[in-house]
Amino acid sequence: MQQKELVLNEIMLPNKANWAGNIHGGEIMKMMDSAAFAVASRYCRGNVVTARVDELIFHQPVKVGDLVTCNVKIIFTGKTSLEVKTTILGDELKEGHSPMLVLSAFITMVALDRNGKPTSVPELEINDDQEAKEFANALNRYTLRKKSGKRAKELVN
Ligand SMILES: CC(C)(COP(=O)(O)OP(=O)(O)OC[C@H]1O[C@@H](n2cnc3c(N)ncnc32)[C@H](O)[C@@H]1OP(=O)(O)O)[C@@H](O)C(=O)NCCC(=O)NCCS
Repeated sequence: MQQKELVLNEIMLPNKANWAGNIHGGEIMKMMDSAAFAVASRYCRGNVVTARVDELIFHQPVKVGDLVTCNVKIIFTGKTSLEVKTTILGDELKEGHSPMLVLSAFITMVALDRNGKPTSVPELEINDDQEAKEFANALNRYTLRKKSGKRAKELVN
């Protein structure tokens, strides 16, 4: 069975807050990126880098003292890249509400060899209908990216 999922938990402390008492969005994004790196690196048994983040949405603010749970899952593999679905939940421990979705995103990671060049990733096993649906949606994003990639490079040059 492939190891394609991972969960990271962290209590949010005041050193990550802004003056309003909410946690900086960048701190949450860093956690998202760290979890995506960990799941992808373990899956590839090697180094990976973040190439792209798609559809990043902050759904709710995170407050000091909240327990944040970052769930990551590899949902697609290309040749040397893979896509990680990320959802982060925030739990206001003292309030006793159900954890709420605070962030969602799709992150593309690229596997690198010892010389820092893209290298092939293990092909993803699809185990059920939900995974087949996630793979198909990710394949759609991958295909659109391939088509728009050249134009994106022109935009920044
Ligand atoms: C990501 C990176 C290794 C790609 O290198 P490259 O020479 O463009 O590689 P290629 O064109 O051969 O593409 C390799 C794979 O990456 C994917 N890829 C490259 N750029 C991408 C982008 N911007 N978005 C999504 N996928 C991308 C390609 O689709 C390809 O996937 P596939 O093999 O599954 O089809 C390179 O752009 C890089 O090092 N970027 C910086 C990454 C980094 O430092 N991240 C941390 C930020 S602090």
